[in-house]
Amino acid sequence: MSKETGITVTLKAAVTLDGKIATASGHSKWITGETARHKVHQLRNENDAVLVGINTVIADDPELNVRGIDDGKSPARIVLDSKAKIPEHSRVFNNDGVPVVIVTGKQAESRKWPDLPTLSILSAPTIIPETNWVLAELKKLGLKSLLVEGGSLIYASFLKNLCVDQLVLFIAPKIIGGQESLSWCGNLDVDLLDQALQLDIRSVTAVGEDWMIEAKIK
Ligand SMILES: NC(=O)c1ccc[n+]([C@@H]2O[C@H](COP(=O)([O-])OP(=O)(O)OC[C@H]3O[C@@H](n4cnc5c(N)ncnc54)[C@H](OP(=O)(O)O)[C@@H]3O)[C@@H](O)[C@H]2O)c1
Repeated sequence: MSKETGITVTLKAAVTLDGKIATASGHSKWITGETARHKVHQLRNENDAVLVGINTVIADDPELNVRGIDDGKSPARIVLDSKAKIPEHSRVFNNDGVPVVIVTGKQAESRKWPDLPTLSILSAPTIIPETNWVLAELKKLGLKSLLVEGGSLIYASFLKNLCVDQLVLFIAPKIIGGQESLSWCGNLDVDLLDQALQLDIRSVTAVGEDWMIEAKIK
């Protein structure tokens, strides 16, 4: 598990009752209500870093900071972006003094990066940065806890590589339906049910109109 790297990894997703994180057209704001979103800011405040994939940055342009928490401290922002294609004006590059780490693959083309004093670029030894390597590098930066915030492909990579300690799923009483709308977890290569990841549900809590499930991977 991720404990081998010394980093506690929490996977957080906001999903509909049918397990979707976006509509077929890519619309995803907002799946859950204000109370659940406030809880997400608490989770960010409790973690040293937050990580997303490049598709999430392009689709949602998230700030990934802590808002609405007294004395809240924003975590470092990590983006997995093999080809170094993150738009220069993305809000993760907001100059708020928080470390920003873009992780590229080894064949990323050179490009002009934003002039941000807290920005560092990590170049992975593989074409796609592997989650275990990323965690080992984040550990070297002194980070001890990581909140993985999506999207679907990133959740799947962390789960497949057993790089997740706990899950926090916010479940909204909504149904999107459809084969094309994005399910929260990408392909895990599960063909038979006994290959499915087993969870140990620790709590189920009402958060406003939504539900929060906290679980550990068995
Ligand atoms: N409701 C929620 O909680 C929530 C949260 C987050 C996102 N979303 C939604 O999810 C959608 C985006 O999800 P997505 O699955 O398309 O993309 P994603 O997970 O955000 O990003 C995936 C991309 O990250 C890059 N990447 C680099 N290293 C990777 C690795 N080790 N494993 C996997 N990917 C890696 C790859 O692109 P390169 O090869 O180009 O690097 C990959 O295509 C958006 O619609 C967004 O709104 C919803």
